[in-house]
Formats: sequence, structure tokens, C-alpha cells
Amino acid sequence: PKEGEENLRSPICCIMGHVDTGKTKLLDCIRGTNVQEGEAGGITQQIGATYFPAENIRERTRELKADAKLKVPGLLVIDTPGHESFTNLRSRGSSLCDLAILVVDIMHGLEPQTIESLNLLRMRDTEFIVALNKVDRLYGWKTCKNAPIVKAMKQQTKDVVNEFNMRLTGIITQFKEQGLNTELYYKNKEMGETFSIVPTSAITGEGIPDLLLLLVNWAQKTMVEKLTYVDDVQCTVLEVKVIEGHGTTIDVVLVNGVLHEGDQIVGPIVTTIRALLTPHPMKELRVKGTYVHHKEIKAAQGIKITAQGLEHAIAGTALHVIGPDDDIEAIKEQAMEDMESVLSRIDKSGEGVYVQASTLGSLEALLEFLKSPAVKIPVSGIGIGPVHKKDIMKAGVMLERKKEYATILAFDVKVTTDARELADEMGVKIFCADIIYHLFDQFKAYIESIKE
Ligand code: GTP
Ligand code: MG
Ligand code: NA
Repeated sequence: PKEGEENLRSPICCIMGHVDTGKTKLLDCIRGTNVQEGEAGGITQQIGATYFPAENIRERTRELKADAKLKVPGLLVIDTPGHESFTNLRSRGSSLCDLAILVVDIMHGLEPQTIESLNLLRMRDTEFIVALNKVDRLYGWKTCKNAPIVKAMKQQTKDVVNEFNMRLTGIITQFKEQGLNTELYYKNKEMGETFSIVPTSAITGEGIPDLLLLLVNWAQKTMVEKLTYVDDVQCTVLEVKVIEGHGTTIDVVLVNGVLHEGDQIVGPIVTTIRALLTPHPMKELRVKGTYVHHKEIKAAQGIKITAQGLEHAIAGTALHVIGPDDDIEAIKEQAMEDMESVLSRIDKSGEGVYVQASTLGSLEALLEFLKSPAVKIPVSGIGIGPVHKKDIMKAGVMLERKKEYATILAFDVKVTTDARELADEMGVKIFCADIIYHLFDQFKAYIESIKE
């Protein structure tokens, strides 16, 4: 297409990095929200998505470049957890994105999940920008709220600039040890060869205009082909979750194409889209709020879908839409293959505890965590959503075989009163927590108390 005639979709950008480097806080700063403060233990345990319309990006970058040309309709940003248990969610996020932000805490440098994230991105040849976050923590930093970074740096004392340069040099060296050339973005003459670093603060907003403008410019300059809108639906399930008043819903990322209310979908069950919901622009999909209803919706977007039978949907699989000329059986077969590859990662042994989680993504993370060498708790059964009597019955099977495994580890879910009563009656233990590793602490204490 000729200049100005491109039909581009919004780029999808994944935000990755070690735990507590400020990924969610950076998004909060751009959104003007407080998602991070509402998280249990201040850690992200689910994958999220936020849509930033171009006009909001323009507003935020005006001071840096008043006449910036935004050719994309917006930016869809996927937030991922940094805690080590959530490798599967980082992998899911990185597999969906066109480009990424790798967040590094300027006070800590590269950490284990920085390197893990880096390798996930490299594995897929995904371009990324480094956000060197928490610059406001440099001793003596003078706040320049939401200012472009060069302007903010000019306000700093020599000591602050020296500390900044020292830490920056150290981090560039650490990247080099990982085989990667990096440079401050405004000094980077060979983007593509050398990865750009944007210093930021998620608390006081310095560098945020730079980060946004660099992302959008980089995407629309180098990814026109990839970002050219096509009608073929490309859609991935992020999470399967129960929402009060909506039953089991799925959160999806629509990468390309259009979804309509009433579309027949396969993934792996065949069902019909009842409602297409999105949060308001600049709001997080994974946070409960008010939703906007759509008759149809065009990529790229993060969407909540309600329909019958979604409890059988599997996070991480593709969602297929059945067109008038499509062979349903072939599409179903394809969907089954996707599902099997995801399910094969969930290991189920014969003897073990029962685990229950709010979403399939968190269930996978919980299973991954329970499998890790430091934890090693065997699992015999799994479930999603509130703990019901049927779950107690299933966990109760272990009473005869290995009593200490007649236990439910319930992550971020409610236990119905009936289920609680039945558990007490049968002698099934229920441990509830909203932070994954607290379940391990409780279970460990329980096992030790039994041994005594
Ligand atoms: P996970 O999702 O759990 O991996 O963490 P995260 O990377 O999303 O970090 P989060 O946004 O939860 O921030 C972690 C902590 O660092 C919180 O206490 C934030 O308030 C703080 N923080 C984040 N960014 C900044 C920053 O730029 N400056 C300062 N001073 N604190 C920050
Ligand atoms: Mg977070
Ligand atoms: Na955190």
C-alpha cells in the first residue's frame, strides 16, 4: 500500500521482566489506574490486557513530539507476572506479542526472570525495548512529573547523573554478558542491531512519553507487513474464568480479524458467542469492572467472551470461528490438537492432593509450582472455579489411600458452605490462599503437624 493507505491493526506489546521491577505499576502510570495496589501480595498472578487508543498515546507524548504521526489505531499491552512460578504465562504472553518491553530495575540490574524473559523473546525473534525503571530511586532524584527523560535528566545534579551513568554502564555490561548490545535509546544509532534502553519511573512518570513514542514508532516503521490488518480471525484464549453473573467466560486476545456476536466458535467445544465484552479503554481486562458490549469487534483487542460451555475451553489454545464454507470437523480436529498439547503439560499422577484455582492459567502455574524440586507435592486431581461438594468427594478418595493427600489446595477461589460442611464431616482438609506459595507453607505445616 502507498504511504498513508496502510490499514494497520494495533500492535500487541507484552511487558515482561523479573518480579517487582514495576511492570504493572508502569501500566498503572500510563492508565491512571491502581491495579497493582489491588493485587494480593503486590504480585501479578494472571495475564492481563489493556487497550491504549492512539489519542491517549498522542496526549501522553505531546511534550516529547507534538507532531508525531500515529498510523496505528492504538496499542494493546499484555501484562505478565514476574514471579518464577509463572513461566507458562510469560511464555503465553511472549508468544502473542509483536514486540515487548523488558523491564529492569535500575537498582537491581539483570535478575533470573529478566534473563528467562530475554531468552523467551529471543527464541521467537521478538524485538523489545528495555525500560530501565525506578530512576526516581537514584539518591537525590528531582521529580519532573511525566517529563521526557532527557528533559528530566537535565534537572538532575552531577551526583545523580554520575550514579545513573554508573548503574547504566553496569547493566549494559550485564546485557553484553548475555550476548546483547544495548544503548540509551537517544544515543542508539542502529536500532535493530542494538537494543534501546529507556529510563523510566512508574511512580513519577519520567520517561513514559519516550517509552510510548518509541514503541509506536518502532512498530509502525519496521512491522508494517506484520501489522497489516487481515480478515482471517486469529484469536488466542488467555484465561478461562468464572465471573459472577456471566458464568464461565474466556478472556481472549484477538490478533487479527473481526469477531461478531452470534459467531460460531470452536475451541475445543463448539458454541455461539453470546456477548462480546471489553473493559473501557485504558482499563485492565483481568480486573473486574464495567464492560462495554460490542456487536462486533476488530483486532487487535483484549476481549471477554460469554457463551455456553466455556468451562471446557483451555487457556493457551486458539479460538477458531466457523465461516459459512468451513469444514466444522476439520476445525474441531485442529482445536483438539491444540488442546492436547496444552493438557500434556498438566501432569496428573495417581496419588496426591486436589488443586483448585480461579483460572486455568493460575492452575497451570500452581501445578508448575507444586512440581518444582523445592516443593514436590503430587497432584491427583484438578478443578477450576469455586470448591463444590463434588470436589470434596474427589479429594476424599485419598482418605483410604494416603490420608494427608485428602486435601484441597484452593487458590483464589471461594468454598461453598455445603462443600465446607462436607469436608469437615469427611475429614478432607481445605487450604485457601490468594498467593500461590502460601498454599505450600500451609500444606507443609500441616504435614509436619501430622508427623508429630
Ligand atoms: P510482578 O507482576 O509481581 O512481577 O511485579 P511488577 O513487575 O508488576 O512490579 P509492581 O508493579 O508490582 O511493582 C513492585 C513494587 O515496586 C511496588 O511496590 C511498586 O510501587 C514499586 N515500583 C514500581 N515501579 C516503581 C518506580 O518506578 N519507582 C519506585 N520508587 N517504585 C516503583
Ligand atoms: Mg505485575
Ligand atoms: Na509486584
